[in-house]
Amino acid sequence: MRLLAIVFLLCFSLASCGDPVTNHKILSTIFDGVPSLPPAGEMCNEYYQERVAAEVAGQDMTAGEAASLKNKGSSHKPYAEKKCRDCHSNDKNVNAGLISPKRELCVVCHIDFIKGSNVHGPVAVGDCLACHLPHSSQYPSLLKEDPDSVCAICHQESRLAAAMHDRFVVKTISCGECHDPHAGDARYFLK
Ligand code: HEC
Ligand code: HEC
Ligand code: HEC
Ligand code: HEC
Ligand code: HEC
Repeated sequence: MRLLAIVFLLCFSLASCGDPVTNHKILSTIFDGVPSLPPAGEMCNEYYQERVAAEVAGQDMTAGEAASLKNKGSSHKPYAEKKCRDCHSNDKNVNAGLISPKRELCVVCHIDFIKGSNVHGPVAVGDCLACHLPHSSQYPSLLKEDPDSVCAICHQESRLAAAMHDRFVVKTISCGECHDPHAGDARYFLK
């Protein structure tokens, strides 16, 4: 299992920045005096910047527009439509004035929401409000924090796969690009 993970990681890191590594190998074979490889975390930066630029160009978006999309606000449909009674009741003494206990409220409408054999801790216990706001948010998907920071509300612990993850942080790839926030069939809810 461990070996498998290592092999996987190795393939992963080579695949994710194959170009600079291959280029370097070719260059070092042909010419002498090619400087040694930069640290792993920086190795793909140039390649990554180019990829981002290409993606942005492909979508006819400026880098600024792409960034503002990440911080686009959102509003919950029943709230925007002023259907307050879909969630709030008259009796403040029962369920703190909600139609059902807080940890069961969201799945009243979001039926069969959890898909996959591995379920993320807070989702499994119905704590949707650990990451979401019920009414509206300055971020997409009613998130409490921007998509790049929402995981860090809880995950401050050091990663087992630390070396790999540090590289993504350097390159500001969101956790959600690889992990589903809710659940999945793959280990660690990998997409
Ligand atoms: C999708 C369900 C839902 C809808 C629709 C909804 N609310 Fe709420 N509301 C909640 C939940 C859940 C809380 C508790 C939030 C918490 O404790 O973190 C809450 C809290 C509140 C509070 C307490 C203060 C606060 O903001 O935390 C007020 C006031 C409130 N809602 C008013 C409204 C009004 C007015 C509407 C309609 C325009 C509305 N809500 C629609 C789910 C909803
Ligand atoms: C009364 C029904 C109802 C309840 C209760 C409800 N939702 Fe929703 N929710 C909706 C509807 C309707 C939509 C819009 C779905 C669509 O457009 O396809 C939605 C959309 C969402 C979205 C996507 C928003 C976006 O901008 O992409 C999130 C996130 C969400 N709900 C979270 C929650 C959470 C968290 C709770 C519990 C606090 C909750 N919902 C409770 C009806 C509900
Ligand atoms: C650990 C944080 C976290 C928890 C807990 C969480 N969510 Fe989410 N949720 C997210 C993130 C992040 C997104 C945005 C995903 C994206 O844009 O790819 C999202 C998106 C959504 C959406 C819109 C897109 C979709 O997948 O349908 C809905 C609806 C939603 N969540 C409902 C819920 C409900 C219901 C719960 C509780 C059962 C819940 N969430 C618990 C982080 C969380
Ligand atoms: C509200 C707190 C909270 C937030 C926010 C949160 N998590 Fe978690 N996460 C947990 C808990 C609790 C566990 C279960 C810990 C365990 O099993 O040891 C967990 C487990 C995980 C695991 C599986 C780890 C394992 O060893 O099985 C992954 C992967 C993960 N979270 C990713 C994320 C991602 C990605 C985000 C952001 C979208 C996120 N988490 C946001 C609380 C949180
Ligand atoms: C480019 C893809 C990618 C991104 C981005 C990513 N992860 Fe992971 N993550 C993985 C892979 C692959 C594994 C499995 C590693 C293994 O098998 O040892 C993993 C494992 C994990 C685990 C369980 C094992 C451990 O190292 O603790 C947690 C928790 C986790 N990720 C959280 C996060 C959080 C939080 C973020 C955002 C800061 C994030 N991941 C960003 C790919 C990613």
